[in-house]
Amino acid sequence: MRIFIDSANIEEIREINNMGFLAGVTTNPSLVAKEKRDYHQVIREIAAIVDGPISAEVISLDLDGMLQEAEVLAQIHTNVVIKIPLTATGLQAISILSKKEIATNATLIFSANQAILAARAGASYVSPFLGRVDDNGNDGMILLNDIVTVFDNYMLDTEIIAASIRHPMHVIQAAKNGSHIATIPYKVIKQMIKHPMTDAGIEKFLRDWKESM
Ligand code: E4P
Repeated sequence: MRIFIDSANIEEIREINNMGFLAGVTTNPSLVAKEKRDYHQVIREIAAIVDGPISAEVISLDLDGMLQEAEVLAQIHTNVVIKIPLTATGLQAISILSKKEIATNATLIFSANQAILAARAGASYVSPFLGRVDDNGNDGMILLNDIVTVFDNYMLDTEIIAASIRHPMHVIQAAKNGSHIATIPYKVIKQMIKHPMTDAGIEKFLRDWKESM
């Protein structure tokens, strides 16, 4: 499973990218709005740091608006992936963009049916929102597992991004369920790195080393 960061914060992205495991970035309108910066400039800076797909979402809900935004975003960098919400219009946009060989990420996926339609329309990625499914009293991992099973059955090329990850166990479960990618917030990546036994082990090694001097 490849690891993406779900962030629009340049410092967070740079810090995590320096660790060598980062394969891509996802942003969304809420994450970009938090930065209070020019949207296109943020995407440009991310693309200069990370060598991998960078998802940038359209804001328009109408087809012309989606396509116009997509064209502009796609010109920022060849690694930009156009993130499009899964609506009937979104499916049209995904289909048109895929014919132009512009990569798309179908976002706000809450059912396996939505994922199948996005894949058949030509989406490069689908993003099931695991944490938000859990928030609603259902199990996001069942959704992820359903999508993995269906995509495997028909050998669909569309890659699955486990999104709306809230804690480290989500990441392990996403990997066990065969997700191609997990997009993970900065805070959760930091939680994945840290283990109290590692810290205690380092402390003991250093103590023993000093005592032998
Ligand atoms: C994914 O592409 C989204 O940006 C993100 O994972 C949404 O997560 P949230 O439900 O924590 O806002």
